[in-house]
Order: sequence, then C-alpha cells, then structure tokens
Amino acid sequence: MPPFRNFKEGSDLLASARKALDWQNLGFEYTKTDYRFSAVYENGSWSEGELLTSEMIQIHEGAPALHYAQQCFEGLKAQTAKDGRVLLFRPELNAQRMQNTAERLSMPAVPEELFIKGVMQAVSANQAWIPPYGSGASLYIRPLLIGVGENMGLKPAKRYEFRVIVSPVGPYYKSGGLSLISLAVSDFDRAAPHGTGDIKAGANYPGGLYATRKAKELGANEALYLDAAEHRYLEEAGSANILVSMAGNKLVTPKSAAILPSVTRRSIMTIAAEDLGMETEERAIDLRKEVGSFEEVAACGTAAVLSPVGKIWFDDHWHHFYANGEEVGPIMQKLYDLLCQLQSGEREDKYGWTREVAL
Ligand code: PLP
Ligand code: COI
Repeated sequence: MPPFRNFKEGSDLLASARKALDWQNLGFEYTKTDYRFSAVYENGSWSEGELLTSEMIQIHEGAPALHYAQQCFEGLKAQTAKDGRVLLFRPELNAQRMQNTAERLSMPAVPEELFIKGVMQAVSANQAWIPPYGSGASLYIRPLLIGVGENMGLKPAKRYEFRVIVSPVGPYYKSGGLSLISLAVSDFDRAAPHGTGDIKAGANYPGGLYATRKAKELGANEALYLDAAEHRYLEEAGSANILVSMAGNKLVTPKSAAILPSVTRRSIMTIAAEDLGMETEERAIDLRKEVGSFEEVAACGTAAVLSPVGKIWFDDHWHHFYANGEEVGPIMQKLYDLLCQLQSGEREDKYGWTREVAL
C-alpha cells in the first residue's frame, strides 16, 4: 500500500510529503516515480490490476510488441487545482481512444473502468510527485497496452499488459510556457489516408523522429505533415494537432481521417465556440492556397497544451503569422488561458470535463 494516502492538509498536499523537485524548471522527461499500475489480459479476461514498484517490464523475446509493434499508448495529465484537488481532464476520451486503437491493432480493449482505475491508482499512489498548483508543471500519465508472450508468425499476441506510468513534467517544447514555436513542413508522410494515423499506435511515431530531426536542422521545433495523397492539405505536427484562426472570428482545424483525434483540440474548438463566440470549422485546409489568410496558428495536445506557432517553413522559406511571428496573438492567448483555467480548476467547469482523483 502506498505510504502517502490521504495526507491532504488544508488546501494542498503536505508540503513535506511532496518531493523536492525544481517544479518550475522541469522539462518533458521521464522521472521514475514510486508506483505503476499493471493489469494482464490472458485467456479472454483482464486481471484486476495492481500497483508495482519496479519500473522494469520483463518481456519475452518473441513478444509481438517488439517484433510487429503490436503496442499502443495514451497521454493525459493530472494537475493540482488551487484548492488542492487533483484533476484529470476528460480521461474517458482517452479510454475510448485506446479502445478504438486496440480494435484496429487486434488487441483486447481495456474496459473503461479498468483504464480509469489504473489512471486513478497510479496518480493517487504517486501523489508526492504531483507538481504543486501554479508551478506550470503537471503529472503526465502514460497508459500503455502491449502485446507480450511469445509469437513468431504475424498474428496477435495471446497475452497483453496494460500499464500506467506517471512522471512529473514541464513544458513539452523547449521554449516553454506560452512561447512561440515554429514548424517545418516535412517531405515525409506521417500516415497513409486509410492507414493508422487516427489511432495512437506507437508505430506511428518512430518515422517522425527523422522528420523532426530534419525540421530541427531548419531551426523548427517539430515537423508538420501534409496529407500523404496530394501533399497539399494540412494534417498535423509530430505530436500535436493544428489550429488556425482566420478573419471573421473563425477558428479552423484540419479535417482528415489520418490525424489523431486530439482531446485537446476537440475541447478547444468547443471553448472557442461557446466561450469566445467564434465560428469553428473542421475542414480541409489547403496550405499553399490559404496560408495568406492564416492570422494565428497553434499546435495543441496534452503534452503541447496550446503552443502558438509563429512561423512555418515550406517551399524554401518561412511563412510568418501574427506580429510577424514575434508575439503570441490574442486569440491563442485567450484560448490557452481558458483551457488552462479549466484544467486547473480555476474556472467553473461548466462542461463537466474535469474529474477529481481521490487521494
Ligand atoms: N497528434 C498526435 C500525433 C499526438 O501524438 C497527440 C498527443 O497525444 C496529439 C495529436 C494530441 O492529442 P491529445 O490532445 O489527445 O493529447
Ligand atoms: C501527448 O501529448 O500526450 C502525446 O502523447 C504526445 C507525445 C509524442 C509526447
């Protein structure tokens, strides 16, 4: 049983129980925490799951996760609110997305109750690692589903592990906080039109490592992908969806069957319509034809939160947005503030999106 149960005092965790990390200066890195949740699927059913102390997974050399990338993951965050509550943001959407991913990869679905239980237990057991309110850091939660056991031929695993690990993290992009990032359009494709781009399969990501390296050589933070069929329409960045504001108080986001349905993007589109009265639209965005009408651009995701994009590289030069790419524009600033206030419990949650973790 984890030692830090119910040690709330007044409005926050006992300061003495919280780990002494430099919360303001955390990057997006792995930090070993004390517990992880693990459940196993075998012979048609899931185990109840338990908390483990070892960060190592012993895995058979024949595991389909290793040979055929029969593996997927999710990403969400827990944050300390001003009143000391610890809040998750729409975890049921991550549970559903992992189920869609599992189906596409011929893996057993993790029932929503097991997914939420694993997340809750991993957060609660590691409460000493949850960054304090106002630090700008959060506890990143990474649920994993992997095909283990032995297989040689290309067929689904007979055994699976569902594991939830957590790690305190700071901003995803090196620039940190709400500062401008830049993206470079990649010559490579991320996902095929009817491939696996819309699920969170680990196999979607390693090809992007090279694309991101190339983007970084151009001075960008990350690669930006166009549609694989025509190299014309905006898709998404390596680890985040894209938002574009246009004249007439419009917020537009790419419509594509090859991009990850981002929980953050779906939430921001709702906030833009409901709280800012913006006209929101999900549609194909022809980059070259429409770039002149982009007012503000942002990348968004759990790790990226909302990261304003000052410039995009394509066709051999930089294309700048609001204030020549030197300032964060008012629309993205407002959307960022509204999202963060909601996620950290500073703003009334009229959407019912946050979920408290029982500590
Ligand atoms: N697109 C990709 C490729 C991602 O890896 C992520 C991160 O999860 C996102 C978009 C953003 O999705 P979400 O907002 O659900 O974290
Ligand atoms: C997330 O935002 O949760 C992700 O999974 C992106 C990842 C590449 C860090």
